[in-house]
Amino acid sequence: MKTLTITRPDDCHLHVRNGAILKTVLPHTARQFARAIIMPNLKPPVTTVAQALAYRNEILQVIPEGVNFTPLMTLYLTAATTLEEIKRAAECEHVYAFKLYPAGATTNSDAGVADVTKIYPLLAALEKYDLPLLIHGEVTDEDCDIFDRERVFIERYLINIVENFPALRIVLEHATTKDAVEFVNSANDKIAATITPQHLLFNRNAILAGGIKPHYYCLPILKREAHRQTLINAATSGNPKFFLGTDSAPHLTHLKENACGCAGCYSAFAALELYAQAFEQANALDKLEGFASFYGADFYGLPRNVETVTLEKTNWTVSASYDEITPLKTGELLCWKMI
Ligand code: NCD
Ligand code: ZN
Ligand code: ZN
Repeated sequence: MKTLTITRPDDCHLHVRNGAILKTVLPHTARQFARAIIMPNLKPPVTTVAQALAYRNEILQVIPEGVNFTPLMTLYLTAATTLEEIKRAAECEHVYAFKLYPAGATTNSDAGVADVTKIYPLLAALEKYDLPLLIHGEVTDEDCDIFDRERVFIERYLINIVENFPALRIVLEHATTKDAVEFVNSANDKIAATITPQHLLFNRNAILAGGIKPHYYCLPILKREAHRQTLINAATSGNPKFFLGTDSAPHLTHLKENACGCAGCYSAFAALELYAQAFEQANALDKLEGFASFYGADFYGLPRNVETVTLEKTNWTVSASYDEITPLKTGELLCWKMI
């Protein structure tokens, strides 16, 4: 039996929600990953250190017995975020970053920032305290084509942010385009990007060809095949600017199979298996460990994990659902399995 053993990875972009969904999904991540950067887009959003600590406690309560897992908390940046809150976050050992959502760009982003240039004093504070800024990099203009929204965000805002705050550590989350990869490659070494399994495995045909498939709908939306190829090259390049962030984003099945379906793919149940498949297809399994287990930890200044995880080359069929959440590739075969 072919197996693959790597250092236990970290998930640098994860949605676990709260309440019943948290109970269902958190054990999936905790089984595979040592740590995860927890996204703050709850309803209401996690905007203060006090809220982040309460959310952290809720997460700690659902970690299965005997499993070592550390949630790394983030705060949701809004136009109302204060400099005092940023200082508190910098002083809190459990808060690792701030997340910028352009208002209306994605799930639960109503509280996001309407005009990014207006929050430059907040970005200056993040730079001063060396707190990373995590960005959902898409513009929200209705007249901007949904497939262009990431590129336009980079051109209109990101280039300017990087120029104005040269010491600010930034993660362009869930990079989906050639434009994003080129931008990150050409930017200074404070600038990194996460890449999801769905953007490595699928192009936009997965959502739209042969019928509309809502479980492949996430934001930023899947792009053309040429973009997927560029993402594969970036993820398997061994360049530490690109690291694992699943963006696993559970929604109840009826809210995705809906006339106005929610954005987000649920991948945590088999995140590593999905990445292993993408890396194997690119003949680059030897590059998976750096991408999954080293570069994210290095970016966040965390010690690399010492435990290992092992995957086995074996076929298995993805469940129809986990409670009321339909997983990515439901009913289809996966070819790797964590043991
Ligand atoms: C995420 C979610 O559901 O919270 N959805 C998604 O499609 N990626 C939000 C996000 O990361 O943009
Ligand atoms: Zn996002
Ligand atoms: Zn996300």
